[in-house]
Amino acid sequence: MRINAQGHLEVGGIDVLDLVREFGTPLYVLDEEGFRANCRAFRDAFAKYGHSLVIYASKTLSCLAACIIVEEEGLGLDVVSGGELYTALRASFPPERIFFHGNNKTLDELVMAVESRVGRVVVDNFYEIELLENVCERLGRTQNILLRITPGVEAHTHEYIKTGQIDSKFGFTLANGDALKAVDTVCRTKNLRLMGLHCHIGSQIFEMDAYAHATEIMVDLLAEIKNRFGLELEELNMGGGFGIYYHSGDEPRQPEEWAKAVMSTLRSKTEANALRMPKVIVEPGRAIAGPAGITLYTLGSYKEIPGVRKYVAVDGGMTDNPRPALYGSKYEAVIANRADREPDELVSVAGRCCESGDMLIWDIKLSHPQPGDILAVFATGAYNYSMSSNYNRVGRPAMVLVRDGQADLIVKRESYEDLIRNDVIPERLARGDVV
Ligand code: LLP
Repeated sequence: MRINAQGHLEVGGIDVLDLVREFGTPLYVLDEEGFRANCRAFRDAFAKYGHSLVIYASKTLSCLAACIIVEEEGLGLDVVSGGELYTALRASFPPERIFFHGNNKTLDELVMAVESRVGRVVVDNFYEIELLENVCERLGRTQNILLRITPGVEAHTHEYIKTGQIDSKFGFTLANGDALKAVDTVCRTKNLRLMGLHCHIGSQIFEMDAYAHATEIMVDLLAEIKNRFGLELEELNMGGGFGIYYHSGDEPRQPEEWAKAVMSTLRSKTEANALRMPKVIVEPGRAIAGPAGITLYTLGSYKEIPGVRKYVAVDGGMTDNPRPALYGSKYEAVIANRADREPDELVSVAGRCCESGDMLIWDIKLSHPQPGDILAVFATGAYNYSMSSNYNRVGRPAMVLVRDGQADLIVKRESYEDLIRNDVIPERLARGDVV
């Protein structure tokens, strides 16, 4: 990203105003080089310590093009639904590198996972052990699995995205003995092969100590499993959650720091427990896609309440980025057509939905925002498109992939026709032609 001679924001070697002319707004823009560089940064950081696999959490941003890039970069893929699995398979993602997560996978999804030979099903609960065993029995297959453990580590993050603490809907609780009971249960199945353990302590985490602490707990559990069951598990998946920069105050770490926190703890703890070093798996999502994305909007109406606030409205909002409304997330932005000017006017950026809570950014300094200006919001590659909705029957924006001065459409803009595609008019309501 840079500012060009016209004072316009440029991404992937393209003036964003050219992108707007060609594709319209709102527009998701994904910087291919940035996305790939992030994949490599995590891959290399962990590879330095030996046997490891980085898998991209596709809930962050899933589409065919993203799956293809992730595959090309040699990463694995974390999917959490039949839809994400379907997307990966349609992108010809090698199934053996797919990990299937989720706290309530349906029977159909488990059948799909086993039939398509996904590498690992990350089993979340006792009901799922039974369900998956039955599916495997019926299909005459064995399935490699990991067990998701809730290690009881709380990372400082938003209440809704903490997942490692005891009171969580995810995984087998360590503290009450469920984790060991789950190992015992799996050992008694015929068709499930326990390859290792998984945990995920939350998202947007900056504290590397939390990972080190979780690693210690997981190695203790591996040791206990070895003692009790004579089973030395080969894999340890430490989840995702690596935090990124959204706004001032965020202090992201380097992938190497994450790798060090996990791997050096792992090395010393396994040695102390006379265990072999397991293969380590991590599953970052936000840190790969987030910084590689920006969203472009056109400014429209504005409203000034003297002495109170000036609102400027964009042609998108909570439908394409629900994070501010959901989590109070903060973003930084610039007027892309005057990116070289000092941001000197304090405004709040409103979305277009019929809801007071649809505010994209409260209190941000922008350079003289006017109707028709293009607003670029940064770090929107993660959990924006993937969490978008059609509220108010607003169509989802298009997404373009930019690289070396070239822009390619990777997700089409939803048309009005798309919005009614699944609507059905029952016979008894059909009165003449509906236009
Ligand atoms: N692995 C598991 C098991 C997860 O549940 C998640 C995220 C990840 C990996 C990837 O975490 P990441 O590296 O992206 O932090 N919608 C929320 C975030 C929810 C995260 C859910 N799980 C947001 O917009 O902040």
